[in-house]
Amino acid sequence: MTVMITGGAGFIGSHICVELIQAGRKVVIFDNFCNSHPEVINRIRRITGTAPDAVRGDVRDVQALISALSAHGCSSVIHLAGLKSVADSVSNPAEYYDCNVVGTLRLSQAMQQTGVRNIVFSSSATVYGEPDVLPLREDHKLAPFSPYGRTKMLAEELLGDMAHSQSPLNVAILRYFNPVGCHESGLIGEDPNGIPNNLMPHISRVAIGQLPVLNIYGNDYPTSDGTGIRDYVHVVDLAAGHIAALDCVDRQRVLKVNLGTGQGTSVLELVDAYTRASGKMIPITFAPRRLGDIASYYASAELAADVLGWHAKRGIAEMCRDAWNWQRKNPNGYLDQ
Ligand code: NAD
Ligand code: UFG
Repeated sequence: MTVMITGGAGFIGSHICVELIQAGRKVVIFDNFCNSHPEVINRIRRITGTAPDAVRGDVRDVQALISALSAHGCSSVIHLAGLKSVADSVSNPAEYYDCNVVGTLRLSQAMQQTGVRNIVFSSSATVYGEPDVLPLREDHKLAPFSPYGRTKMLAEELLGDMAHSQSPLNVAILRYFNPVGCHESGLIGEDPNGIPNNLMPHISRVAIGQLPVLNIYGNDYPTSDGTGIRDYVHVVDLAAGHIAALDCVDRQRVLKVNLGTGQGTSVLELVDAYTRASGKMIPITFAPRRLGDIASYYASAELAADVLGWHAKRGIAEMCRDAWNWQRKNPNGYLDQ
């Protein structure tokens, strides 16, 4: 039976496609390519020997979803399609609610109409907001402070309601911490448009010489070295977490699980690890704190180990090695065909 991957052409989705194909599963990508490049399909074929089926469509289009779910005989959906920039969500909240919340609603309706019951959803650690206590457990209160975070929280609630409806869905909600790195082949990876907002792709662009310097936002946080601490998780480990979730999604109605390593790493520690992995100098400068940033957060990874039997295997050194491998082999991302 086929797994539909909405947003499957994107950074995380493409890695999930590879893991699923290599595990012998059939996949169909459903993506409008608003933030991805069709070349990714070719790259997935080069890694796995199989070109995934792909449908160009928007998750707000119920009829297109119904056709694709039926035509491909789908039994499950992994739902990643969405917009993900915190800053953009502040400027264009309507677009974010429409794509992330209405898109999730339309997808649930299409699943109910086609009898597809299982859904694994991409949520984010950003739903927790400022931590009361660390590590962040799944039962921590939810208080996101950006429109983006609120769209993820609302989509979680919507799916929870669908799980208890007359035509119930089986729901696994995965709260990602900070996904970085890429497939070790260097054929697929993170390819942001313009100047990257996130730390790892920004470091990569500095290392390759496309950007002059890394601005470190804040060195006066109450952390070991004053810079922000996050739980970086290798995207290939993250992808494996989705296969584990698919395998147990029908065992309980709603599962909510963190996908993180349980380890915090500071900005300076990540820069140091990247310097060692690439052999490149990464010029840095300290800049004021970024609005809305939290000093420190990392996951409790216990529930993922208990219910999914999943834990992250790769450390910071591998994350930096693979991010650099992708960057040096594809200095212009997927435009380097
Ligand atoms: P991405 O932008 O690389 O991938 C998202 C994909 O969805 C893209 O291919 C895009 O074209 C597609 N898409 C967007 N809107 C669509 C629509 N309306 N219809 C069909 N396709 C659409 O992002 P990513 O980093 O791979 O993230 C995937 C998911 O994981 C997102 O939902 C994101 O919010 C979530 N997430 C990401 C991170 C992160 O740091 N990357 C962290 C937590 C959660
Ligand atoms: N940082 C810098 N310089 C940069 C970029 C980031 O110093 O150029 C710092 C930030 O201040 C923060 C850390 O690096 O301390 C990580 O920042 P990222 O932008 O890489 O990641 P965030 O934790 O802010 O957010 C990311 C995604 C969110 C997602 C969240 C999940 O952008 O969408 O992880 O934990 F919700």
